[in-house]
Amino acid sequence: MGYETIEVKPVTATIGAEIFGVDLGKPLGNQQFKEVHDALMAHQVIFFRDQKLSLEQHKAFGRLFGELHIHPNSPGPEGHPEILPIHADANSKRIAGERWHSDVSCDPEPPMGSILNLKVVPPVGGDTIFASMYAAYDALSEPMKKFLSGLTAIHDGSMNYSRTNQLIGVEGPKTFPRAEHPVIRTHPVTGRQAIFVNPVFTHSIKDVPEAESKAILDFLYEHCGRAHWQVRFRWQPDSVAFWDNRCVQHIAMWDYYPEVRSGYRVTVKGDKPFYRAH
Ligand code: SIN
Repeated sequence: MGYETIEVKPVTATIGAEIFGVDLGKPLGNQQFKEVHDALMAHQVIFFRDQKLSLEQHKAFGRLFGELHIHPNSPGPEGHPEILPIHADANSKRIAGERWHSDVSCDPEPPMGSILNLKVVPPVGGDTIFASMYAAYDALSEPMKKFLSGLTAIHDGSMNYSRTNQLIGVEGPKTFPRAEHPVIRTHPVTGRQAIFVNPVFTHSIKDVPEAESKAILDFLYEHCGRAHWQVRFRWQPDSVAFWDNRCVQHIAMWDYYPEVRSGYRVTVKGDKPFYRAH
């Protein structure tokens, strides 16, 4: 793919690219926006360095890709409901994203993408690992692809958020989003198939006995978490990672306790997942 206004350097052959030559704090022209979007579609997660974004600039960049999402369990700071603070320090009892997931997949229309800008990073550690659910799907056998394409999964936010709220001692909302999604989803832009279940939000496979549901999900979680389709991002202060939740899962490493790791996430709304046979 030819890029005229940015430089795109893939980090692996499967997933992840570093983007150079763009200041996300300034309005992007049409061509530059298109190229950043193209790079996201091609590489699934894109990385930027040295982006000193204010909350307003961060939100303005996110809005180029769609309406902003408000998190169902963690309201943003005063005046910024669309901002999700990501923060860990010596007093933290947990961190966001410690297990593989696609953000808020329990929403009936889960977010298309998430844009994380870390301001403070630990001297070492605190990486985020991203996995390509396209590649995980492509590696399945044809009979397995066919079998999974007929299944629907139930995603339930209460499994994760109630536990989090209990752990950190906050009351939180009484109810959380719950939704049914195809186990294999077709990406609305690229048309590629991706596995869309994760251990944080997926409750079960619909209309199959519990033991079968558990066996299918256990297999998929092990498969999706394999090293073969991962990229590991090492943060610096002011780095940005922008991932496509429709085809990527991620996990944050909490290997830096008691150091501080802190920043903000803007999340872009998505649409209802669907499966279309090729
Ligand atoms: C998240 O959005 O799940 C957090 C990711 C991170 O902190 O690296």
